[in-house]
Amino acid sequence: MALIHPDGKFRQRWDFVVIVATVVSSVEIPLRITLNYPLKGWLVPYDYVVTLIFLADVVVNFLTQQYDKKKLISDPKVIAGRYLRGWFVVDFLSAVPFDLLFSGVAAAGSNRILRLLRITRLLRLTRLAAFLSKWGRGSSINPAILRMFYLVFWILMTSHFVACLWIYFGSGNAVNTNTDYAPTDNLRNYVRALYWVTTTLTTIGYGDITPVNNRQTVFTMIIQLMGAGMYGFVIGNIANLIANIDIAKSQFRERMEKIETFMRYKAVPPETQDRVREYYNYLWESRRGYDEFSIVNDFPTPLRTEILLFLNRSMIEKVPIFKGATPDFVREIVLNLKPVVFSPSEFVFRKGDIGYNMYFISRGGVEVTSEDGKTIYATLREGNFFGEIALLLSMPRTASIRAIEFTDLYELDKDTFDRVLGRFPDFEKHMRELARQRQEEMQKDKK
Ligand code: CMP
Repeated sequence: MALIHPDGKFRQRWDFVVIVATVVSSVEIPLRITLNYPLKGWLVPYDYVVTLIFLADVVVNFLTQQYDKKKLISDPKVIAGRYLRGWFVVDFLSAVPFDLLFSGVAAAGSNRILRLLRITRLLRLTRLAAFLSKWGRGSSINPAILRMFYLVFWILMTSHFVACLWIYFGSGNAVNTNTDYAPTDNLRNYVRALYWVTTTLTTIGYGDITPVNNRQTVFTMIIQLMGAGMYGFVIGNIANLIANIDIAKSQFRERMEKIETFMRYKAVPPETQDRVREYYNYLWESRRGYDEFSIVNDFPTPLRTEILLFLNRSMIEKVPIFKGATPDFVREIVLNLKPVVFSPSEFVFRKGDIGYNMYFISRGGVEVTSEDGKTIYATLREGNFFGEIALLLSMPRTASIRAIEFTDLYELDKDTFDRVLGRFPDFEKHMRELARQRQEEMQKDKK
């Protein structure tokens, strides 16, 4: 028998259908219990559809594979056993259409038990949190926005339940039956109850709607106590969520403010301040202020390799020497690359310096210049590299390198370079050949 994959397309779509049915019936069932309206008109087909969806869900769950410590179970007997011991009871009870089964009894009048049996439909709500969090994990929506959405959703649901309970304890009415409206006016009854909930939960408490019996009075006290706690909790949560909607941005802003204050305090010259600001602007625009190097550095090596190969894939594609290279070679290099950024007309190094690193250009461009920067020997762009001669021949830098614009470079240290040369003779041959050509060209230029 064909089994359903728990993360597959079908299961995702089916989960969506079940979530919609759960939410709709969780809103409708409390109303049906408290306002006690008869199941007729369009409510009949609606109740059939929800019942069918919930029953079908039981079947779908029997056919859905489950994870056991990361491994998928494919034995239908094991799946059924686990489901029967797990959510089956909740799923099955919530699917039983008590109203449809006992419609005759209800009409006879003794429908108190039936009214309460409907609560079983609400059991589904216990699964909702798990469903929603599974959905959240798979989506690309900002987690802070998602949490805000859940918070609002649960506040609305809670308010709805409390409003219904208020009506229930008032024996079917939101306020005293002797007042100005007919008790059968369900909509008005509900809206007034919701109004009572809002004023009580937000601790505003106008007091224009007051309890009419002991049950409602005790309930009011409980909700008042809950309201005080919930109000603080919600306000605190929302402030926190708003601050977290863009953690990167707020952290970056904080860092910028610190730097600005520092520069002012130390009376850094205005032109230098401008350059610092431009540099940080570029960092924000090019990488949202994230320092990939320090983030990735905490990862264990296999994960770090995987994510670095992914992050640097465009650079690897651009650099011709990486194109035909073995995966081993690429991995060795990528694991040891360190991203650095240079501002326009900044020198990466100068002629005569001792060389500790070579560089790959991932974005932007540099000029190979004489020591004073006046003569330009060559311009190197994305995908090219420089600084290999000093490392290969253990000699001082043969030229100066100046960034033309904001330039993203990847730095490879001498130790890794030497190690890679030893392990990959083709790479060494290629490097030596290029170094020779470049030196010759420079000699020619000088003459
Ligand atoms: P290195 O001597 O370590 O530092 C300066 C670098 O400039 C050098 O390594 C080469 O990578 C690079 N370079 C020198 N001459 C040329 C050239 N003619 N064309 C391109 N790059 C060069």
